[in-house]
Amino acid sequence: MRKKIVAGNWKMNKTLGDSEELTLEIMEGVHIESPIVVILAPPTPFLHRVKALAFEHKAIKVSAQNCHEKESGAFTGEISVEMLRSLYTDYAIIGHSERRQYYNENDATLQLKIKTLTKWGIRAIYCCGEPLEIREENQQYEYVLDQIRTALFNLTAEEMANVTIAYEPVWAIGTGKTATAEQAEEMHKFIRTTIEGKFGKELADNLSIIYGGSCNPSNAEELFAQNNIDGGLIGGASLKAREFLAIIEAARTNL
Ligand code: 13P
Repeated sequence: MRKKIVAGNWKMNKTLGDSEELTLEIMEGVHIESPIVVILAPPTPFLHRVKALAFEHKAIKVSAQNCHEKESGAFTGEISVEMLRSLYTDYAIIGHSERRQYYNENDATLQLKIKTLTKWGIRAIYCCGEPLEIREENQQYEYVLDQIRTALFNLTAEEMANVTIAYEPVWAIGTGKTATAEQAEEMHKFIRTTIEGKFGKELADNLSIIYGGSCNPSNAEELFAQNNIDGGLIGGASLKAREFLAIIEAARTNL
């Protein structure tokens, strides 16, 4: 059975104190035996502290928001996967559209990041999704296929099994404009079929594909009820414990 995941991407928000407070509030609201994998992705400087607080909580994992593809070296300001490993980081979000847009992240590099993450035992949350103009031209399937082909098709089966895919249509991120459950389901199904074609049915069936883009307590339930939507990658609504916990509850009721 594939995992159901609700991940909170805090982006560049929260201080150390805020991060501690939010982590404790979330820990209090999530049952230790929760069948939903809850992932917290705080800013990098707070990863260690958030992990320390949640260490004993079986259902809560922590994620970085990025990593470097190279092992180590003269890359000022960057964070290596080995460093993340030493902080007990469980996951790393890679290829978020904000990183693609502002820091020229591309799919060829993302493939390398997945390889390095797999080597160090950290799971990759690979983000893909089309911008508005592509959706308006009805080219979203070609666009996402191209992203997936470049980033994922040359992975080994072991590396691919280490990936969770997050479909985040760029036009839905932080805009309050969610993809309809049908639009999201159609794309998730397309992604799963594409992965099946390349890596086989068993791997595709076990692949968690989560949705991101203005997901909130009022639309989460309908989104998570879709066959191919295995949870969410939450931005704005993950910054408030009450909203985030309501989204986790929506995932639980849709198991
Ligand atoms: P919002 O939930 O704020 O739209 O952000 C989604 C996102 O980018 C999560 O990675």
